[in-house]
Amino acid sequence: MPTFLVTGGAGFIGSHIVEELARRGEKVRAIDNFATGRRENLAAFRDRIDLAEVDIRDLDALRPHFEGVDYVIHLAALPSVPRSIKDPLTSNAVNINGTLNVLLAARDAKVKRVVFAASSSAYGDNPVLPRVENHEPRPLSPYALTKVAGEFYCQIFYRIYGLETVALRYFNIFGPRQNPNSPYSGVLSLFIAAYQREQTPVIFGDGEQSRDFTYVANAVDATLRACTAPKAIGKVINVGVGESHTLNRAISLLNGIFSCQVTPRYEAPRAGDVRCSQADITLARELLGYVPSIRFEEGLERTVAWFRAASA
Ligand code: UD1
Repeated sequence: MPTFLVTGGAGFIGSHIVEELARRGEKVRAIDNFATGRRENLAAFRDRIDLAEVDIRDLDALRPHFEGVDYVIHLAALPSVPRSIKDPLTSNAVNINGTLNVLLAARDAKVKRVVFAASSSAYGDNPVLPRVENHEPRPLSPYALTKVAGEFYCQIFYRIYGLETVALRYFNIFGPRQNPNSPYSGVLSLFIAAYQREQTPVIFGDGEQSRDFTYVANAVDATLRACTAPKAIGKVINVGVGESHTLNRAISLLNGIFSCQVTPRYEAPRAGDVRCSQADITLARELLGYVPSIRFEEGLERTVAWFRAASA
């Protein structure tokens, strides 16, 4: 039976991947430094997984956790465009140096494959929609740059050392367990928390910026497929739904779900922000057999239901 190692396993996306692996009866190890990850994310299936506190910036500490591992799913990172603008050094250290450490540890432990969480932010202000993987990367923020660097490191490790790697460009993943208690959180978790707390959601800009909001179960499915899909090796692949929704539309959907008429407060646009984003998922279909099963509207309803249950 193969062993999976999930870096950032206690984080939002990581915990969903760990949960699905545990549900399938796989052997799974999670590592996290708990900077943004939370033990409570793993509580419901903690007895079925190995969990260790490790920081990916520490290569020596990392190495023992890679022994005997077949598949590494590398999600550990500091997310958030504004965080990376405020503190580019730390984003760089975690996302670039940390990724290099993960690749080195994986190479030396003779891991079969590393699947890396890249980001749709790579496309930046490229005006062409939907985003296709062969578009030139045009990162607009330190965060986006760190994720592009990670992709290139993955490809270089495949070409030079023969380590199988796959980079998945996640498009604005959302869902249960996305932490709303930080200004750096994903916008939908912040909006939902604002509705629950009867606060006014804030929109940076005119609200007409759009995202291919992708429910987390879709990302879990694509990621686990990428561990073994033969044709994915060495590739960069979009993981989204293939749609684009504005923030104003998200507010009107939430007004429907919460049966209220909230008007957001509009503030100045954020530095480094991408205007529009939408994935072309042809490559994911071809190489991974991935078909998104949950669309934005249903994902939003499920997420609100989870937030309601969590705060009950
Ligand atoms: C970017 C990446 C995404 C990645 C994420 C990690 C793109 C297109 N997407 O997300 O793939 O997972 O970084 O951090 O680059 N906003 C508000 N009000 C708020 C918070 C945010 O209006 O309270 C706006 C932002 O200005 C932005 C949009 O909502 O226009 C989405 O922001 P956010 O959820 O932080 O994600 P991205 O920066 O798009």
